[in-house]
Amino acid sequence: MPGVFPKWTNQLPLNIAAGLAIAGAAVAAGLGYYFTPKYTRVGYQPIQPVPYSHATHVEQLGMDCRYCHAGVERSWFAGLPDASRCMNCHHQVLAGDPRLAPVRDSMQTGAPVAWIQIHRTPDYVYFHHAAHIRRGVSCLHCHGRVDQFEEVRHDQPLSMSFCLECHRRPEAYLRPLDQVYNLGWNTDPARQNEQGRLLALTGDMRPPLSCSGCHR
Ligand code: HEC
Ligand code: HEC
Ligand code: HEC
Ligand code: HEC
Ligand code: HEC
Repeated sequence: MPGVFPKWTNQLPLNIAAGLAIAGAAVAAGLGYYFTPKYTRVGYQPIQPVPYSHATHVEQLGMDCRYCHAGVERSWFAGLPDASRCMNCHHQVLAGDPRLAPVRDSMQTGAPVAWIQIHRTPDYVYFHHAAHIRRGVSCLHCHGRVDQFEEVRHDQPLSMSFCLECHRRPEAYLRPLDQVYNLGWNTDPARQNEQGRLLALTGDMRPPLSCSGCHR
């Protein structure tokens, strides 16, 4: 019987379908957000107790990563500098600056500066810095242009597919050992592959692809 129901109800089933589709998409997006680490991690940039800038110290002053992250080429852990590292310069430079108060306190009390760790792999993943650094994998690929950061952020996903992307074709990334800490090293992609293949070959490079390689 036409005219009993207002005209808009003809649209109702459609609206419901559309509504459900949107809700479904939202749930999927929500789950995706929860389960896909790259969205939760990339860009993570906690406020640190001291506004330490890699751009000032690495790019402008030319400091080497290893001065402060001494573990990178010998252990799984890169490590952070203790206050005495900073005070080597800052007992003179910016000696009374309030921004450095937590560093001076740490010197006095011996309690480390409460830096917030940004990168962390889950316990069921085995990761080792030196195994990468000593083979010619630069910090760049996993951490971005830290040398230019005012504040460190989580720059790369460091997810399983991210790790595997390089393990499948390391030649696209490998560089001479003396360029590992030079994040701005200029590579043209064609030369990279050629040179990388040579490095992979001469180094007999076999990054693990099997599950037990990274889940031990
Ligand atoms: C003068 C000391 C110093 C030098 C040199 C230095 N860093 Fe750092 N780095 C720090 C400090 C302090 C932190 C912790 C505070 C922060 O995150 O900014 C840090 C944090 C980091 C982090 C994040 C660690 C985390 O919490 O997950 C990365 C990655 C990093 N540095 C890489 C580099 C690289 C790559 C270089 C060389 C290009 C470098 N650093 C040189 C002092 C230094
Ligand atoms: C090799 C010497 C040296 C070391 C080691 C050093 N700094 Fe500096 N730092 C400087 C100089 C030089 C400046 C620039 C001073 C200025 O702006 O007048 C500076 C600036 C700073 C500033 C002011 C903000 C900025 O970026 O200009 C902070 C905060 C700071 N440093 C923290 C640290 C911390 C924390 C450490 C240890 C992890 C550290 N520094 C290690 C030399 C050093
Ligand atoms: C192949 C990838 C990769 C490369 C290359 C790499 N890192 Fe890392 N880095 C990671 C991962 C993954 C973590 C988190 C490890 C964990 O769970 O503690 C991390 C954590 C860190 C941390 C904080 C925790 C720690 O180990 O002290 C610092 C500092 C750091 N990296 C510095 C560096 C520097 C400096 C370089 C280059 C000399 C570098 N990394 C090269 C993947 C990498
Ligand atoms: C940009 C390239 C690259 C990335 C990204 C990368 N790897 Fe590797 N990985 C290598 C190379 C090269 C080796 C050395 C292979 C060799 O020595 O034969 C290696 C070796 C390893 C090894 C073997 C170390 C040992 O001591 O046996 C493990 C485990 C590993 N990687 C885990 C990871 C994990 C976990 C990630 C991600 C968080 C990751 N890698 C990301 C290139 C990479
Ligand atoms: C190159 C290193 C590497 C290899 C090889 C690897 N994984 Fe992973 N895997 C990772 C990393 C890193 C993570 C952690 C991702 C994150 O941070 O959430 C992970 C996470 C996982 C997870 C947790 C769910 C997820 O996707 O985050 C499962 C399940 C898993 N791996 C199974 C496997 C299986 C099965 C294999 C063999 C077919 C395998 N992995 C091989 C590095 C690796």
